Amino acid sequence: MIKTLPDFPWDLLTPYKEQARQHAGGIVDLSVGTPVDPTPEIVRRALVDAADAPGYPATYGTPELRDSVADWLTRRLGVEADPAAVLPVIGTKEAVAWLPTLLGAGPGDTVAFPELAYPTYDVGARLAGATPRAVDGLFSLGPETPKIVWINSPSNPTGKVLPAEHLRKVVAWARERGATVISDECYIELGWDAEPVSVLRPDVCGADHRGLIALHSLSKRSNLAGYRAGFLTGDPALITALLEVRKHAGMIVPAPVQAAMTAAYRDDAHVQEQRERYARRRTVLRRALEAYGFRIDHSEAGLYLWASRDEPCWDTVKALAELGILVAPGDFYGTAGTRHVRVALTATDERIDAAVARLTA
Ligand SMILES: Cc1ncc(COP(=O)(O)O)c(C=O)c1O
Repeated sequence: MIKTLPDFPWDLLTPYKEQARQHAGGIVDLSVGTPVDPTPEIVRRALVDAADAPGYPATYGTPELRDSVADWLTRRLGVEADPAAVLPVIGTKEAVAWLPTLLGAGPGDTVAFPELAYPTYDVGARLAGATPRAVDGLFSLGPETPKIVWINSPSNPTGKVLPAEHLRKVVAWARERGATVISDECYIELGWDAEPVSVLRPDVCGADHRGLIALHSLSKRSNLAGYRAGFLTGDPALITALLEVRKHAGMIVPAPVQAAMTAAYRDDAHVQEQRERYARRRTVLRRALEAYGFRIDHSEAGLYLWASRDEPCWDTVKALAELGILVAPGDFYGTAGTRHVRVALTATDERIDAAVARLTA
């Protein structure tokens, strides 16, 4: 099984990281999207208050957690949510990697995902023994019917937002063919120039969640990547089936993390505060990259600027490493990304300002 997985691409960046570290002002690492701002106090307190946890937690999550999630889905995303159809996961990377397997995909099945995408969709298809298919729109699949179709809006890496009309077409296409749509909505509260829409919004799915799963993470929204916290929701039958297999497999979110998640989903103030931090970083970094000669494509939402100088991405990586700035080459996300780099907004204000000074010197 291990043999079927791609090489871990981040190792290729090591020489450029070394080079960036040589810069007199230190490295500005904008390559990975790992949050750097504090985990909100209310979330930390909830974790600590739940630290005495001698018994096993429920795979299904506490009723309080599922209620807080359902309230959030309705309050923030306009989704008619049922707490019974909420299932916590141990960070969504785990879910992305194992959902095809847990949903019964296997040899002979196709798992489709966007041609520029988070690499774990491909990994998940391979772990299941299914065929991964990176596609530029569903029509390029021809007559083939995939078992699973991944969508990701706002997109990692491009920051592109799929409007409701586009999502409606995907849902209709998949329903005609009996494919399951899994919508990765990890960045949904980070819209800047466009409003991200959930696949479960009634105007997209007709208030019918059958055949649909939405996936949400607290890593970016609430600076909780270190806790490993996310959830799935959607088709009640699929969620029940996933709950059964996850119970057998021991895929359980720890009790203190469930308490922290409950507190995080009950609160919107910390999300607004974090949004303001990212908005400032995005504005200054975007301006500086443009002044340096970059074009920024898409990037309407999410935590990345998808930047190009119309040259091979590794040339851009090298040029920026000479300035002590480390970015991710676009080809990590698919062959359509060979002339872009992904620039993350997840660095402190001090480091972002250092990058801006170097780009505009
Ligand atoms: C599109 C997308 N999905 C899922 C994840 C996984 O996030 P986590 O495992 O922290 O929930 C990431 C992380 O960067 C991502 O970019």
